[in-house]
Amino acid sequence: MIGEYQQRCAARVDAALAELFEPPRPELARLYQAMRYSVVNGGKRVRPLLVYAACEALEGDLAQADGAACAVELIHAYSLVHDDLPAMDDDDLRRGQPTTHKAFDEACAILAGDALQALAFEALADARRNPRDADLRLSMVLGLARAAGAAGMVGGQAIDLESVGKQIDQQALKTMHRHKTGALIEASVHLGALASGNADDTALRSLQHYARAIGLAFQVQDDILDVESDTATLGKTQGKDEANHKPTYPALLGLDAAKAYALELRDQALHALRLFGDSAEPLRELARYIVERRH
Ligand code: IPE
Ligand code: IPE
Ligand code: MG
Ligand code: MG
Ligand code: MG
Repeated sequence: MIGEYQQRCAARVDAALAELFEPPRPELARLYQAMRYSVVNGGKRVRPLLVYAACEALEGDLAQADGAACAVELIHAYSLVHDDLPAMDDDDLRRGQPTTHKAFDEACAILAGDALQALAFEALADARRNPRDADLRLSMVLGLARAAGAAGMVGGQAIDLESVGKQIDQQALKTMHRHKTGALIEASVHLGALASGNADDTALRSLQHYARAIGLAFQVQDDILDVESDTATLGKTQGKDEANHKPTYPALLGLDAAKAYALELRDQALHALRLFGDSAEPLRELARYIVERRH
């Protein structure tokens, strides 16, 4: 379903990520092992692909986007390690393997997540990995910090946990999804655009509209797959949202309306790219993939 271009980009970010987990001292071998385990384990790499595709849409050089691609995946991996902890979703399976706290232990998983978050900002701030000039690098750090923190992903996770077992309306659910998942997806597109070195305000606005739509669509589809897929395909335990009494789109709207909404969001995303030519084809392909994916 995902094209040859996306496979090349996934291989590209995997190679850049693999370089980041060399323990500087032997005492840290286990911590670094847990960090590597949480990242180098077959994620779909959707956020790095969005970084590269946004850079490509603005005719940038992909080599300039490697630092940003690593950074968004590192934040994502950290968010999953913490999301799976017993204090949060309490999941045993992730990407087809035991979750980090199961393969190691809880304290190690918390620390690995903490370290992955710091490493993300290091990858973005380090001129060897992110060769853009200092002003642009600083804008990227700012964008990622806002998306990852309490005003973004962490805030969304807080809303998610507070909403367990409650009836929330569609507006509140949208706010929760836009924060917990949309914010990092929006940042991925934004950072990729900045990495191109060719981002003007008009392009950034169109890309932001695109990213807002697919960011929400991504979590709507995640909710749908939790209902109708299976554990082997997902690589994570199916049915956990209902078991954990999470508010989701299928729970609120029903499965058919949730699916229709995901497709509507995809169409909004494609519409936002109407002024772009062929260079935005990878972004268009990703918008379709996000709502058609089976895991
Ligand atoms: C899962 O993200 C968590 C959400 C934000 C919905 P992905 O579906 O991108 O997970 P991986 O990286 O492919 O494992
Ligand atoms: C996770 O949402 C969003 C994050 C910020 C990690 P979910 O809790 O639905 O993600 P999965 O289904 O466990 O991958
Ligand atoms: Mg969760
Ligand atoms: Mg979860
Ligand atoms: Mg989920």
